[in-house]
Amino acid sequence: MPLYTLPDLAYDYSALEPAISGRIMELHHSKHHQAYVTGANTALEQLAEARATGNLGNVNKLEKDLAFNLGGHVNHSIFWTNLAPGADGGPEGDLATTIDEEFGSLEAFKAHFTAVALGVQGSGWSVLAWDALGSRPIIVQLYDQQGNLPAGVVPLLMLDVWEHAYYLDYQNVRADYVAAFWTIVDWSDVAARLVRARAAGTLLLPA
Ligand SMILES: [Fe+2]
Repeated sequence: MPLYTLPDLAYDYSALEPAISGRIMELHHSKHHQAYVTGANTALEQLAEARATGNLGNVNKLEKDLAFNLGGHVNHSIFWTNLAPGADGGPEGDLATTIDEEFGSLEAFKAHFTAVALGVQGSGWSVLAWDALGSRPIIVQLYDQQGNLPAGVVPLLMLDVWEHAYYLDYQNVRADYVAAFWTIVDWSDVAARLVRARAAGTLLLPA
């Protein structure tokens, strides 16, 4: 089975400045994200060993390790591609219509998403996700890397509000980091994710 690997970024570490500094991006990608990749691989290896030896007494810890670290790997892999240097404008086409219909307006969506990001207690994420059962977009407040996330939702837009994501640049002022985030969202990536999520929507239950 192939092990998880750290994906390359499509832009330089400093490309998202001034919204996110190159120093944060380098640490965040090469150290934090790498640690989740390593952790997910280790958890899978230890679970395979536990099956092979029949020693499953540690399975609760290993499953937690897998969920946390694979969650971290998935979340960051999406987050990097949700961002682009010099991105501006906003959602267009089906994405814009979908946001308007569900949340009332782009402004109302951004206010909701921002409140979720600012409200995270401890570490977590604000997430725009596609609910494949209800065929609708929802906003989810994700705890740590894996908590409070219903099964069957597909992330479309993710904002990391762990302190490692912003503290070097913004210290305790998370609101300024979230405001800067909106200037580097790659809406074309979000729109492409929506197309793929809609296409996969009937996987949960027969149509
Ligand atoms: Fe992070």
